[in-house]
Amino acid sequence: MSSAQPASETPRKYQLLIDGQWMDAESGKTFETPNPATGKTLAEVAEADKADVDKAVAAARRAFEGKWSKMSARDRGRLLYKLSQLIESKSQELAALETADNGKPIRESAYVDLPQVAENFEYFAGFATKIEGETIPVPGQMFNYTLREPLGVCGQIIPWNFPLLMAAWKLAPALAAGNTVVLKPAEQTPVTAMELGKLIQEAGFPDGVVNIVPGFGETAGAALASHPGIDKIAFTGSTEVGKMIAHAAADNLTRVSLELGGKAPNIVFADANIEQAVSGAMMGIFFNQGQVCCAGSRLFLEESVKDEFLERFKERAGRIKVGDPMDKGTQMGPQVSSEQLGRIKGYVDIARGEGATVFVGGECPQLEGDFQNGYFFQPTIFSEVKNEMRVAQEEIFGPVVSVITFRDEDDLIRQANETLYGLSAGIWTQDITRAHRFAREIKAGTVWINTFNMFNAASPFGGYKQSGYGREMGKHALEMYTQVKSVWVDLSGKPIGWFGK
Ligand code: NAI
Ligand code: MG
Repeated sequence: MSSAQPASETPRKYQLLIDGQWMDAESGKTFETPNPATGKTLAEVAEADKADVDKAVAAARRAFEGKWSKMSARDRGRLLYKLSQLIESKSQELAALETADNGKPIRESAYVDLPQVAENFEYFAGFATKIEGETIPVPGQMFNYTLREPLGVCGQIIPWNFPLLMAAWKLAPALAAGNTVVLKPAEQTPVTAMELGKLIQEAGFPDGVVNIVPGFGETAGAALASHPGIDKIAFTGSTEVGKMIAHAAADNLTRVSLELGGKAPNIVFADANIEQAVSGAMMGIFFNQGQVCCAGSRLFLEESVKDEFLERFKERAGRIKVGDPMDKGTQMGPQVSSEQLGRIKGYVDIARGEGATVFVGGECPQLEGDFQNGYFFQPTIFSEVKNEMRVAQEEIFGPVVSVITFRDEDDLIRQANETLYGLSAGIWTQDITRAHRFAREIKAGTVWINTFNMFNAASPFGGYKQSGYGREMGKHALEMYTQVKSVWVDLSGKPIGWFGK
């Protein structure tokens, strides 16, 4: 028998990690995180607030000024590499906990999330020794060079959709560049970040280099974003909160990077390999229960293939196995929380009210036993959607796709770009000139041609427009965690003549 609760039924307990010590919150408060497949409590977690964030920022500052800045780049890289290996050795346990806390199917946490978590730490481990300055060809008897230095203390606020992977995307480049971190996991999914804290200690990072303060957005998150003691704030989450963070950071002129919402167009031309495109539409919207910022949530179909495509898409969507996320055969688990489930149901009503058709799904599935209390939703396809409708413009963040038809390429590009967002886009066609023309014309940070939801630690990811700014992963991520110092040296040995002798 499989169960969505790993190990035991007694809730796990976690404290805050500050300055290398596990401790209760100053207030003594805790919060519970449920298993979204069953609604049962998975863990009880210390609830950080402003006082704890203050302590964590102070610890991160001491670590930055102390041991961490004196450590060689090679040793920093070795610590990151050690961490990647520890993660690999614990990946089954971590995947089970990720599934229990977030609800994503075990085949995703085990074969997508965890391998990419390890990959990111490994990739940035190699970068620690390759962060270099430049010599600049300035005129005269002068020598000018640059130093690329860490920023200092970085606040990092992460979401619940890929809890450990989002922590890895942010921590790995920050640490490779020599910063220290205060990390706030999402209140819905704090568990694997706390487990990561244990591995960070086991790897041997000096105390205070990584501090982890689980807690709520309005309290711990807001205290971190507005803290005058941090040098940078990195955030992934809703566009609404992203704007609040940018406002809060502005008072201290704290550097900000934001990875926010999306409403990606996933576009199928009539000349596409239709079977491949159907698989891409599935990957685009049903992967991770649709809780993906770059999800292909606007499916644009060329009019002439619409009927054939939708028949196949409906048949495939109807066969998705929804249920116990710990079961290896499950393809979709529950949504992360009852709030998110409620939000999705709300959009089904909005779609109907706007005149769209619920073509597939639109309801909660009937499951048995403990799973009756889980936050499950059926794979859902809205047809007859117009790009101006709210369901085509607002991020739903669930397994819900809006199908929109188009006539020709000009009609398509206009509609595809008519959105506040610009995180990603997909196109399915055999015409290479059209595919690359589209890649230039679409305003989005990532374009997938005849594929979707592809990621690699070496490839940059981030938004255009209101999907945010800054790029995570790849060498671009290091730019967000370093600053450049220009150093001038006189080589002439002579006085400066400007004011005479
Ligand atoms: P959210 O943006 O409120 O939460 C993300 C993170 O921000 C969490 O760690 C949260 O504690 C923190 N946070 C919340 N309010 C804060 C504040 N005032 N100051 C500082 N930190 C704060 O997202 P939420 O409410 O969980 O989900 C709502 C919608 O946001 C989703 O339906 C989805 O559309 C979008 N979202 C997008 C994500 C992405 O990957 N871009 C991830 C999660 C949510
Ligand atoms: Mg929120």
